[in-house]
Amino acid sequence: MSNVRAMRSAEQIHQRIESEDHLMHPRGGATAGSTGPDLLVLLAQSGQGTLRRRLRDALHDAIRSGRLPPGSRLPSSRALAADLGVSRGVAVDAYAQLSAEGFLVSRPGSGTVVADTGGQVLEHTASVQGGPAVSGQAPQEIDLRPGPPDLSTFPRTTWAKAIRDVLRTVSDADLGYMPPWGVDTLCERLTEYLGRVRGVRTNPSLVVVATGATQGITLLARVLHGAGVVDIAVEAPSNPVQRQVLGRYGVRVWDVQIDDEGLVVDVLAQTPCRAVIVTPGHQYPCGMVMSASRRGALMRWADRVDGLVIEDDYDAVFRHDKMQVGAVQMLSPARVALVGSVSKSLAPGLRLGWVVSPPGLVGDLRMAKRDDDFGTGVLEQYALARLMETGEYDRHVRRLRRHYRKRRDIIVHALRRELPDAVIEGYAAGLHLLVRLPPDVGEERFIAAAEAQGVALLGTLRMYGTLPPQPCVVIGYGRTSSTMLEEAARRLGAALAAVRQTKPPTRSARDGQAATQRRPSTAVDYF
Ligand SMILES: Cc1ncc(COP(=O)(O)O)c(C=O)c1O
Repeated sequence: MSNVRAMRSAEQIHQRIESEDHLMHPRGGATAGSTGPDLLVLLAQSGQGTLRRRLRDALHDAIRSGRLPPGSRLPSSRALAADLGVSRGVAVDAYAQLSAEGFLVSRPGSGTVVADTGGQVLEHTASVQGGPAVSGQAPQEIDLRPGPPDLSTFPRTTWAKAIRDVLRTVSDADLGYMPPWGVDTLCERLTEYLGRVRGVRTNPSLVVVATGATQGITLLARVLHGAGVVDIAVEAPSNPVQRQVLGRYGVRVWDVQIDDEGLVVDVLAQTPCRAVIVTPGHQYPCGMVMSASRRGALMRWADRVDGLVIEDDYDAVFRHDKMQVGAVQMLSPARVALVGSVSKSLAPGLRLGWVVSPPGLVGDLRMAKRDDDFGTGVLEQYALARLMETGEYDRHVRRLRRHYRKRRDIIVHALRRELPDAVIEGYAAGLHLLVRLPPDVGEERFIAAAEAQGVALLGTLRMYGTLPPQPCVVIGYGRTSSTMLEEAARRLGAALAAVRQTKPPTRSARDGQAATQRRPSTAVDYF
């Protein structure tokens, strides 16, 4: 499915489906060529429920009538959506509903198959997807924890073509042990791209290709610790994984508060630190963009203490509102190590990122990378270089910006409506925003109430070290469809009401409740 089609609004798809012939054969016309088993899907006429419901009913009828006997393999949700010209979410939701009802089962490796019910007739509940739970059945889970982007936007065809082109053109020698800090061609393309898009001032000899921003920070922590830097500051709150990484290398981690301009540099200056990790493009998790005056102050601090700023530029390429804001690195390339990755723009699973090093650190950093893993996979490096060379990467990011901005607008609007006395902020860039809860609503109780409504949220309690946390939740909206974002906001409104209707539990009751409410999560939680 092309990205353009994937990003078409639900309304447009709906209108198109309703005006079209309703007997669609997936292998026909423009959609031919999708992978997966062939399947005729007979959608009911418009006016008989939403597209989601009609698709679910059509699959259900095919199963009940025996046209799809037990064990029949269904196309992947991606292939079905592509074949029918509907958004992937519609197909995913239909499969999820039928799985919850026992008609389908998902098997690792063999996809989705029709369940063997042993002749037993299952009741088709025909609930509206995303609506309230049907009796006795949990509502579909909506995972709003930040982290992965919308993985259905991964440009599979473009990536496959880039890999093919690479395999056709690289020499045998190019597949050998290449420079562990990255192949020349990618270091060159990254230099151009980051200069053009983020204002980064560097040259290819200062770029170290890593397996992600996380490896970049890990390598920097090791190099700094080796150089005797044992005190490193982080923003409070900040990414807990990074705190753990620093801790593992014996670094003393200092919490420095942030305000609406970003890290408070005056407070940083009171610590013994000579290095700090910051997220100036889109603070994680609070989402503010570091102001120009703070950027200047940060660089003056770095000069004064002969220090290093580690700039985690993880998602700032998705700037939604104002003009693009460049990287802090451009102010002082000798004082800043910028780390970034394609984890938000392509997929975290590629494990492909970079460090733009100050000249003084690059030798040690290259050696640290060599010691760690002898380099990142070269095929992927060449493929990314190719995407950058051909302009495909720029086009993809531009499309994604529109895609995420639309979701951002929907969730901000819906949250303002459903949680009128919470403060919604930090949404000018990236794929997440912050909800500051009303003073009478505790973070843990709200998260538990949301969980009871089938919505997974991430709080910020674990993102502080020594400073007192503020009751907030982080909402990642990137990978949830517009319809489900609306539904999620409604459920969060209900969760807020539920928290307010119940007295805070006693400590022992709370512990017991938390244990029983914790559901096995389908998403892997590494954060
Ligand atoms: C603050 C922050 N930095 C960086 C990353 C990305 O890490 P990586 O590039 O290693 O996938 C994330 C991932 O969600 C993040 O939250």
